[in-house]
Amino acid sequence: MHDGGKVALVTGGSRGIGRAIAERLGSQAYSVIVNYHSHDAAAKEVVGTIQAAGGRAVAVQADVADPAQLRGLFDAAEEHYGGLDILVHNVGVARFSSIGEASDEDYELMFATNTTSTFVALREAANRLHDGGRIVVISSGVTVTTALYSGVYAASKAAGEQLVRSLAKEIGSRGITVNAVRPGLTRTEALTAGRDNGFLDQMVAMTPLGRLGEPADIADVVAFLVSEEGGWVTGQAVNAGGGLF
Ligand SMILES: NC(=O)c1ccc[n+]([C@@H]2O[C@H](COP(=O)([O-])OP(=O)(O)OC[C@H]3O[C@@H](n4cnc5c(N)ncnc54)[C@H](OP(=O)(O)O)[C@@H]3O)[C@@H](O)[C@H]2O)c1
Repeated sequence: MHDGGKVALVTGGSRGIGRAIAERLGSQAYSVIVNYHSHDAAAKEVVGTIQAAGGRAVAVQADVADPAQLRGLFDAAEEHYGGLDILVHNVGVARFSSIGEASDEDYELMFATNTTSTFVALREAANRLHDGGRIVVISSGVTVTTALYSGVYAASKAAGEQLVRSLAKEIGSRGITVNAVRPGLTRTEALTAGRDNGFLDQMVAMTPLGRLGEPADIADVVAFLVSEEGGWVTGQAVNAGGGLF
């Protein structure tokens, strides 16, 4: 490890929930690898925000659906900061349709981006994370709510949760914790693009805390799980949906 601080990799750290997580960890003296796919400027902005507050961060482009590129992110952590303590695997894509109408392309996109990437990221982390490290996979409340038109997406996320439970047992003796976080509806471009307000209003009305989630709400949960104080929680999928599920 470099001069004392911990090193965190946040996949999909340029926008949405991942951005809030990257900025939160960056503000807490973690050195952050901010992965992004295509929004170069957004990733640079996140790095700039972290650096302006005195933190350390670097943006690294990679498509996590490609195992070789995903492994490259772990190489980047070693090259830039001498190793990795924390993996937050946040990237996920959703395409909503009934199972009867789901296309092969959407199935393959979701399983490559959500499921295969989680397997590869967890395998890499199992072999390369420092002892005492932390792993968090961003899943979704759809794995426990059977939301309409979410069958394929939910299946692609549920597999990741099972990998989390298994890995927690496999590497717990090294002091590494492995957890999933299940956001509820959270205000990001992925949520708001193409959604009518009626649907969101309905969801808010069903949510005990009476509002949509914000990316910062999820960053709060992740910040706890990766902290020293979060060290007794492992093998869990933490619901973070304002009580909706
Ligand atoms: N928002 C919600 O309501 C909600 C609810 C439950 C679960 N989730 C989960 O939360 C996670 C984050 O969702 P979000 O709403 O914050 O998404 P988002 O706003 O669409 O942000 C996506 C982020 O992931 C990156 N990304 C996308 N595909 C990638 C790929 N193949 N390789 C590398 N990076 C990639 C994007 O990079 P670029 O900027 O370069 O495009 C961006 O930084 C996902 O796993 C999602 O399933 C979200």
